Amino acid sequence: MTDQPLSLEQRTAELNAIAAQIRVCQLCGLAKERTHAVPGAGPFDAEIMFIGEGPGFNEDQKGIPFIGASGKFLEEMLAGIGYNRNQVFISNVVKCRPPENRDPLPDEIDICTKTYLYRQIALINPRVVVTLGRYSMGLFFPNAKITAIHGQPKHADGRIYLPMFHPAAVLRNGGLRPQAIADMQKLPGLLAEAKGEMSSSGTPANEPNDPPNTAPPPPQPPSQLSLF
Ligand code: URA
Repeated sequence: MTDQPLSLEQRTAELNAIAAQIRVCQLCGLAKERTHAVPGAGPFDAEIMFIGEGPGFNEDQKGIPFIGASGKFLEEMLAGIGYNRNQVFISNVVKCRPPENRDPLPDEIDICTKTYLYRQIALINPRVVVTLGRYSMGLFFPNAKITAIHGQPKHADGRIYLPMFHPAAVLRNGGLRPQAIADMQKLPGLLAEAKGEMSSSGTPANEPNDPPNTAPPPPQPPSQLSLF
């Protein structure tokens, strides 16, 4: 018997179930310190998915990703390409705040991505995944250096991965701002490319703020993600 693609209704049910599991997760030590886990936010059929590192203070308080200073800057960059945060899915490598915003530990990353993030990606099935920062990049571009590969897209698994600096890194080091903005500006063209919509002139056939495609392709099995 061949696998039938899941309907949006089925994907929604599964993604809501994953979010519910995340909210009560006890699989690693981060659970002890959190106020709220942060499953992710955005349309379940988003064409673009952003993956940050982990919730900070504000996100932990509210259970919503990227609502502090980094989120404001992310929203500004999105506005620069004609998007707002409600058109993209925003998630994180780890779903609970590491204490004092320390870096997530390898076992925390391993557990959280295998249990939750890779399933979210497979179910949402975005055309483009934007990694924000080193930890997110490291999942899909192993051993790469962000200063060397930011803004350089990779095609894998039927989608495009675009590594970008973390907004917090750009806020700390203003010298990265022009590069971050230039990287973000590649996104509409990459999305058009991923959707096979490039015109013969090589420019996107659609404007970036066209309504999202309401007929998402079938999700890919999570096993494909282990190919990275
Ligand atoms: N930084 C992240 O990586 N994720 C958030 O949700 C907020 C800040």
